[in-house]
Amino acid sequence: MTQEKEKIYIVGNWKMNPPSLDDAETIFDEMENDAYRMRSDKIEAVICMPYLFLSDFDAKGEIKLGAQNLFWESRGAYTGEISSEMLRKVGVKYVIIGHSERRKYLGETDEMVNLKIKACLDGGMRPILCVGETLEERKRGEAGEVIIRQLEQALQDITEKDIYGKLLIAYEPIWAIGSGTTPSTDDIMGVGLLIKKIISKLYSREIVDSTPILYGGSVTSQNCFDLVDKTGLRGLLIGGASLEAREFVGIVKEFVK
Ligand code: PGA
Repeated sequence: MTQEKEKIYIVGNWKMNPPSLDDAETIFDEMENDAYRMRSDKIEAVICMPYLFLSDFDAKGEIKLGAQNLFWESRGAYTGEISSEMLRKVGVKYVIIGHSERRKYLGETDEMVNLKIKACLDGGMRPILCVGETLEERKRGEAGEVIIRQLEQALQDITEKDIYGKLLIAYEPIWAIGSGTTPSTDDIMGVGLLIKKIISKLYSREIVDSTPILYGGSVTSQNCFDLVDKTGLRGLLIGGASLEAREFVGIVKEFVK
């Protein structure tokens, strides 16, 4: 039996893709058909798909269901929003929160990210908190500062008990997303250690151990193994490559070997 602290999380983020439910079914079914080859208690494979498709998929399959966002209030006059209860009821287990695309295009602030994490935890799902710097911030030597601020504000007023065994953190340098470039494994390892240090300032050792840190940004079946093996991180958040069933399954298989 793999211990929780050795588990590897392979999370696909479909973003606003594919264009139809038929297409989503084709990709997901192909992944699930291959799932028997991916089966391993060491791996948790998750696909975060657009809200609209979620209720059409088997939440009890080999691949777990994830969402890409939620709203912090539980019900009411919030046009266009989706609550944590709605997501939990269709079988969602994971929710990406604070993705840089939402911060950039939808004006999501650290304060909103904090409220969303609380709502996600209250709803009994696991938040995947995204943090990461822009290229300009990196060039100015501010990457560490940005990550510290994002983490501290996102976790404000959230207790040990709330996040134990629940929270995941994804380090996604914005300049690496969709660019075909990744940081060096040494750089990623350094940020992983920084994240652990911040968590250990805010919480106990148990929380540091129970909080998987993932890497995201231009992950492929070619680079995936090193991005985990050489960095000491616990998994990957995958955009583009998760829209091709064979590529996603290929990534999972790298860790089942
Ligand atoms: P990418 O996206 O794998 O296409 O770079 C990652 C993400 O935005 O989560």
